[in-house]
Amino acid sequence: MNIRKHWQINRLAGSLGAEISGPDLSHPTKEDIAALKALLLEHMVIFLPDQHPTVDEHVRLGEQFGELEGHPNLKNAYTPHEKIFELAASHGGIADEWHTDLTFREEPARMSILHMVKCPPTGGDTMWTNLNHAYRELSEPIKSLCDGMTALHDAHPHNHPEQMYIHPVVRMHPVSGKKALYVNEHFTRRLVELNANESETLLPYLTRWVQNPRFTVRYRWTAGTVCMWDNCITQHFVLNDFEGERVIQRVTVMGDKPRGADPKWKPWVRPGPLSAASRHDRQLHLYLKENEGKDS
Ligand SMILES: [Fe+2]
Repeated sequence: MNIRKHWQINRLAGSLGAEISGPDLSHPTKEDIAALKALLLEHMVIFLPDQHPTVDEHVRLGEQFGELEGHPNLKNAYTPHEKIFELAASHGGIADEWHTDLTFREEPARMSILHMVKCPPTGGDTMWTNLNHAYRELSEPIKSLCDGMTALHDAHPHNHPEQMYIHPVVRMHPVSGKKALYVNEHFTRRLVELNANESETLLPYLTRWVQNPRFTVRYRWTAGTVCMWDNCITQHFVLNDFEGERVIQRVTVMGDKPRGADPKWKPWVRPGPLSAASRHDRQLHLYLKENEGKDS
């Protein structure tokens, strides 16, 4: 694409991530947006330093990628715009657990665009991991098992455990078709087709596997940097190793329902009468009961 002749693109790690200089995000052209979409598809997370967008410029930029949504659960009194989600470390806004944004929803966010408004001189880096790389490096038997399973996600970290949804364990990217290992330690609670003991063994293995440093990139921030990430194929994590204030503003582009292979097996149902051990299946049982007959 011609536009890239004027831009500098520096890959930041072997698996994902690139820093891009050259674009002016305050007045992007259609060609700029098309080029950014292509770069995002290729690198999964891209960083554009020294942009300093205003709130209105930030929202306008986001709208070129799709319809925007506010955060469903977390509200911030200082948020300057209904479409901007602001997180300040001084108000508990440190996402120091690996996650893909909002996977407890039927249609988790497609992508996010973050503006680093204020950051500490040292620390507070963010890491991303490439979920396609994590999937590709699983053994064939585990890939095959994961291909045929689904997982239950909930918003317990937002104090809303009643907000739940079941998604494929392996998600197909809506544009590239690449497979992503779509379970995360923050929101994913249960592998639906396994019994509780099996799930408690395999799910933590998978959520830790995606954190393998070889699949990741770590970014050191400067104020004014804009970052875009593809929420269909990555997870991220903030290093909670800093003192002082760290403020981010984010717009979130609405997503679609994650698609994967059809589950090969039925959801686990505990045999026999209720017992003390039944509590391990209570959440899954209640979810399935409430959603009987609905397509999930
Ligand atoms: Fe996040």
